[in-house]
Amino acid sequence: MTTIAPIERRGDVLAILDQRRLPHEERWLECRTPAEVGEAIRSLAVRGAPILGIVAANALTLVAPSSRASNPSGLMEELEEAAAMLRATRPTAVNISWAVHRVLVAARSSAAFGIGEVRAAIELEAIAIEREDRAACDAIGAFGNELVPEGANVLTHCNTGMLCTGGIGTAQGVILAAHRAGKRIHVWVDETRPVWQGARLTAWELGRLGVPRTLVADGAAASLMRSGRVDLVVTGADRITADGSVANKIGTYGLAVLARHHDVPFFVAAPVSTIDLETATGAEVPIEERAPQELTTPLDTPVAEPDTPAANPAFDVTPPDLVSAIVTEHGVLRRPYASTLREAVGMRERRGA
Ligand code: MRU
Repeated sequence: MTTIAPIERRGDVLAILDQRRLPHEERWLECRTPAEVGEAIRSLAVRGAPILGIVAANALTLVAPSSRASNPSGLMEELEEAAAMLRATRPTAVNISWAVHRVLVAARSSAAFGIGEVRAAIELEAIAIEREDRAACDAIGAFGNELVPEGANVLTHCNTGMLCTGGIGTAQGVILAAHRAGKRIHVWVDETRPVWQGARLTAWELGRLGVPRTLVADGAAASLMRSGRVDLVVTGADRITADGSVANKIGTYGLAVLARHHDVPFFVAAPVSTIDLETATGAEVPIEERAPQELTTPLDTPVAEPDTPAANPAFDVTPPDLVSAIVTEHGVLRRPYASTLREAVGMRERRGA
């Protein structure tokens, strides 16, 4: 079966498939320090919430090989510093702080034993985070497949596949599972401006995976729904707050409003690592504001006059009442999300992850 690996560990190097160049060129960046990984994250060489958690955890494995610390507490200081840098790279994607926290807890619990033990604990935790995400994607696909009717036309936004998870993807995992179950589905791929993750990445991935797909302009969703050509919408998430609000790629909220108006189910697929019970509502989610050049000069092509004032929030928040269900590795969650999300997080904690 076709797989697409977005990262590779090569000894003390983290190799990252540079997604900015896809689909035209498959070039790998070799990162030797957390700072290099931080830059790869900021510049969108690697993107998408679950892989950002995995990459951040792997970035912390690069601290020890280049460290001059002579004792565990010196190493812990360097790790904390790298963790703070990584958390600040993409503030909406909660998987980064979630993964970094896990690695720091593992490192601290070994600090009494020596530098070698801290290093081993970090490595093991990074591997566990990736392995768990792979399994979560499989489970999300299996649960989500149940929501997809035979022959469905599915609309999706941004990129949620193998490039941005440790496995088959989240929303795209649902799509792939339905395709592999032989349901003869077809996918409408939003181009997803201004960075074109849909046009460049999702259309490419689905093509390689043999899933029938059609690229559409973001603005086409309304008329596709009105003419009955969308049976369901499924997207990923960068952060799901305790009340079930979903922060995801800019444009997601608009799709949810349209879906409600046209009586089309709007599903969100995400691992439990994307659920943030510490943040009560969507209003408190930090929304990353990106450079105006992504709008004025997309993909280095001047479109607007370079000094045109431009606002570029990378994410928006969909309120819980517009979300028909949230597909996680622990099942399909329905309203009231305040309790079903808490139960799903509890299941994860009981399993010791
Ligand atoms: O800015 P990006 O490309 O990192 O945004 C990614 C998304 O919004 C995805 O939908 C989300 O992270 C889910 S990834 C499985």
